[in-house]
Amino acid sequence: AQQILYKNPNEPPVVFHWLPVIGSTVTYGIDPFRFFFDCQAKYGDIYTFILLGRKVTVYLGSKGNQFILNGKLKDVNAEEIYSVLTTPVFGKDVVYDVPNAKFMEQKKFIKYGLQSGALLTYVPLMQDEIGNFLQGDSHFNGQHGTISIPKVMAQITLFTASRCLQGIEVRQKLDTTFADLYHALDDGFQPINFMLPWFPLPQNRRRDIAQRRMTQIYTEIIKARRAGAEKRSEDILWTLMDSVYKDGTPMPDNEIAHLMIALLMAGQHSSSVTSSWIMLHLAAQPEVMEELYQEQISVLGNTSKPITYEDIQKLPLVMNVIRETLRLHPPIHTIMRKVKNPLPIEGTNWIVPPSHVLLAAPATMGKSDEYFPNAAKWDPHRWECMADPADQEKEKMDYGYGLVSTGADSTYLPFGAGRHRCIGEQFAYVQLTVIVSIMVRKFKLKNVDGKTGVVATDYSSLFSRPMEPAFIQWERR
Ligand code: HEM
Repeated sequence: AQQILYKNPNEPPVVFHWLPVIGSTVTYGIDPFRFFFDCQAKYGDIYTFILLGRKVTVYLGSKGNQFILNGKLKDVNAEEIYSVLTTPVFGKDVVYDVPNAKFMEQKKFIKYGLQSGALLTYVPLMQDEIGNFLQGDSHFNGQHGTISIPKVMAQITLFTASRCLQGIEVRQKLDTTFADLYHALDDGFQPINFMLPWFPLPQNRRRDIAQRRMTQIYTEIIKARRAGAEKRSEDILWTLMDSVYKDGTPMPDNEIAHLMIALLMAGQHSSSVTSSWIMLHLAAQPEVMEELYQEQISVLGNTSKPITYEDIQKLPLVMNVIRETLRLHPPIHTIMRKVKNPLPIEGTNWIVPPSHVLLAAPATMGKSDEYFPNAAKWDPHRWECMADPADQEKEKMDYGYGLVSTGADSTYLPFGAGRHRCIGEQFAYVQLTVIVSIMVRKFKLKNVDGKTGVVATDYSSLFSRPMEPAFIQWERR
């Protein structure tokens, strides 16, 4: 028999649980998608569960995405949820430590540095970084070998992203002190910091020291640049140094530094895990890797020629491989907002009270057979006969940082929707396309020891990632 708890007939049903504060924390934490689907089967698209004492109301499907991601600023709030996690890592006066209107201006500044004009200049830098890495890393000595793909991809992503976004000074420091600071900060970016921010974890001290030291490094770089010691190039740091708020205030140096840290963290994990999943699927389905190689030859001709920004637009199979990977392995499974006013849900008698947190999980649609036949199968070709997701996202709004799709009826939203939508999508596509192109040009990949399929997903960190160990074999072409 279904155990549906209607503690309050005016609120969504509460997911059955035995322990009051723990509630569904463990089942949600181990496999959020299984939890979402199991609860959906029992309660429908809308239900409340207990997450470490908090009442979290899930609203699945397009209507839920619309309700949560396009909720009015006065009704739903992101910063009250995320700032406990992000402010100690990024620093003050940026992102979720400021009113949303100010963050929208900061997003606009960053977006400017991620326009196609800038992306064009990033492509050769990315190739340079990947080429150097593959040449210098001892795991790629010889004609064949075995690698831990998450480790390799984490490094390639960090080097490429920081070279383009952070600038040459930071990239050079990554080989020395900066890498340790990055890891100390990253250790402070865990679910435990989010769920129990007051808990005095030993790594919090290292996180705070790293945050201050990193801010100092950026501030020194900014000063040196302003003193004319560095040559001008296209990177976000220069863009932010030129940025002026609507009220005429130039962006202060400490805000620039903190926003640079935010970018370092925001761009790294999602791209790194996505490239890992791509390589794992290519190792499991080497025939797709071969098709990608043929695409490089047939579209670009000479595969020893560097890839250009224009080339990137001409590779539909690479694009579909990325799309398909983000459908099946969205790095972000949960998007949360604090409820600020009682929110009636249309078509029901329920009102979500301000004591609740709202949870959107647009990625559940990507994993549903209803929208994607045989959804569990990784098949990049499925996109050849599907509508371009960009066309599905017809309605656009201007939240202060340019036109953004509101995603009301899209079944595919790996980059979110509404005012908090990702600004790194184009950058991520360019970065992933360059990584995939170079890997397929140079290598053949396969699973180790005749294994089939790919590893399971590890949901224990903030970004879903491949369960380790995740080794694959490479062979030079
Ligand atoms: C926001 C996904 C890469 C910067 C988001 C959101 C998602 C997302 C789902 C919405 C979060 C929410 O509504 O709470 C991804 C994926 C990526 C990726 C799947 C790569 C595969 C990047 C990169 C950057 C970046 C490379 C920076 C260069 C941001 C920023 C926001 C954001 C600044 C805005 C947060 C807000 O307004 O609250 N991303 N992202 N992302 N992302 Fe990304």
